[in-house]
Amino acid sequence: MREELVKIRQNFDEKIKGAEKLQDFVALEKEFLGKGGALKKILGLLKTLDEKEKRAIGKNAGDLRIYIRSEIDKKKKAFLSERKSMAKEIDISLPGKKMPQGHLHPLTQTLQMIKKVFESMGFSVFLTPEIETEFYNFDSLNVPEDHPARDLWDTFWLEDNQKLLASSFKLQDSKSERLLLRTHTTAMQLRYMEKHNPPFRIISPGKCFRYEASNNTHDIQFIHTDGLMVDKDVSIANFKAVIEELFRRIFSDKIEVRVRPGYFPFVEPGFEVDIACYKCQGKNCPICKGKGWLEIMGAGMVHPEILKRAGFNPAHWQGFAFGMGVDRIAMIKYGISDIRLFYQNDLRFLKQF
Ligand code: PHE
Repeated sequence: MREELVKIRQNFDEKIKGAEKLQDFVALEKEFLGKGGALKKILGLLKTLDEKEKRAIGKNAGDLRIYIRSEIDKKKKAFLSERKSMAKEIDISLPGKKMPQGHLHPLTQTLQMIKKVFESMGFSVFLTPEIETEFYNFDSLNVPEDHPARDLWDTFWLEDNQKLLASSFKLQDSKSERLLLRTHTTAMQLRYMEKHNPPFRIISPGKCFRYEASNNTHDIQFIHTDGLMVDKDVSIANFKAVIEELFRRIFSDKIEVRVRPGYFPFVEPGFEVDIACYKCQGKNCPICKGKGWLEIMGAGMVHPEILKRAGFNPAHWQGFAFGMGVDRIAMIKYGISDIRLFYQNDLRFLKQF
């Protein structure tokens, strides 16, 4: 029986080493101290021994019982306190980590602002394709082939697969097969007027492209929004009122607007519109380059030829048209000195808006 006790202890020492989880401790208790456990069996046999042996073995068995109990308790305690401190580190009541959330690009924000102002003045939004036909981008706007005014817009021509492109971009209605990346959203004018009768007022924002060297105020792509309002007696005064309201709301202040003569083949008269430099009010600053004014849009009264082309009688209908750079407005609003920053996707820049 002595040997039996030694074996039990060896067995226990072996097993307690591998005990790691709460279930392991419960199983050990059951195996060594439980009712049908190894020690209980020995104790049950004690009565078959003589008095001396009984006492000696009984004591050994008792000691072993105490030993086993205390070993199990020790390890269980260590296990529980470790788990407690782990639970402290992992605070399960903390809210989960938030996924970083992006926001709209500054140009999109600016465009949304512009749309909102125009919509509040009764304008609706009309969109046309970025891949445009030569006809809508130029000819329909009084700029026929070989007209020197084409030099105003350095153009990306799409030379290959013209027909394929035309059909995949659903440009079958094109009057001319030659395709290009639109140089201005003014290309929307005839597209709209072919399908709608006056009176109307619309804006048409979107990406435009020009084959130019880029610098801090010019890039090969930019966002324009054109506008067109045709009615019975629309005047330059109406145009001025509309854009003054636009700038007042975008720059949240009364801002001086200057209209000076300018040439565009699709308007008569045509003008360039400047706003007073918000930064320096005419003193020298890098934003207006010392001029005191910032060029912000081209505009004019819709050319009678264009109204005729759309089937409207210019004796009854007249209107104004304008085209402005959304990038320009965002640059002025946020004081950005390089247009290329908008297209570089640098998070250090974008996160500021
Ligand atoms: N499309 C002209 C440009 O690209 C702007 C413009 C639009 C001028 C409408 C007059 C009328 O600069």
